[in-house]
Amino acid sequence: MIITFGTQKGGTGKTTLAIAFANYIALSSERKVNVFDFDFQKSFYHKWKEDELLEIPKLYDVQIIDEENEQPFSDFEHLIEMKESEDVNVFDLAGTLDAKYSDLLIYSDFIVIPFEYSNVSAKSTLVFINFLGLLESQAERVFIRSKYDKGYKYQNQEGMDAEISKYGLLLKRPVFKRNCLQTIDTRKLTYEQKYAVKNSFLELTEYINKCLEITL
Ligand SMILES: Nc1ncnc2c1ncn2[C@@H]1O[C@H](COP(=O)(O)OP(=O)(O)OP(=O)(O)O)[C@@H](O)[C@H]1O
Ligand SMILES: [Mg+2]
Repeated sequence: MIITFGTQKGGTGKTTLAIAFANYIALSSERKVNVFDFDFQKSFYHKWKEDELLEIPKLYDVQIIDEENEQPFSDFEHLIEMKESEDVNVFDLAGTLDAKYSDLLIYSDFIVIPFEYSNVSAKSTLVFINFLGLLESQAERVFIRSKYDKGYKYQNQEGMDAEISKYGLLLKRPVFKRNCLQTIDTRKLTYEQKYAVKNSFLELTEYINKCLEITL
């Protein structure tokens, strides 16, 4: 299967959630996890490389998708193989829309879209949803409230939730703003980090299991 973390807005927590999700699945599932960094900044890959210094075994490999190549998936069969594979193939994208993402966005099984309630983020999220619509992507869209501040009353939450829910699953449980997630690495989930993402990821994996009729 292919699970892609993407949205048009930078800094919403795509990479943080992609790392947390890859770690979570690698630590809790029998399935093999493969990560593909499709962001020109290569944050996931660099973090994974840096973590080679840690004396903890790696949980998965991270590959860079060739940025120079205009159509990295011109080898279509490879993409379909990944989709049909039992492995959990996790993609982390940049916070920009790019035609080179098209095939991946079309053929992903799930697109996980972290979002915040600021006006800028709300707008970008809707632009991204629109882009997926134009691509006629069949991927299931899953929206996660990211860096959510429990004590804050977001003025546009109700309207935004209603709009987003037309296009996919909005996870009930947000990922709260937590300092422990700022120091996440690719080799473990501390108790605190696991606690920070567990409820959202339980909801997400239940949905994946239901849609694909599998057990992660
Ligand atoms: N739940 C959270 N609580 C606190 N800080 C967070 C949380 N999620 C992400 N951050 C922080 O927010 C910043 C941006 O996060 P991240 O790099 O994951 O976003 P991104 O969407 O991948 O950004 P880009 O678009 O640049 O790839 C980082 O400093 C990260 O540590
Ligand atoms: Mg990122």
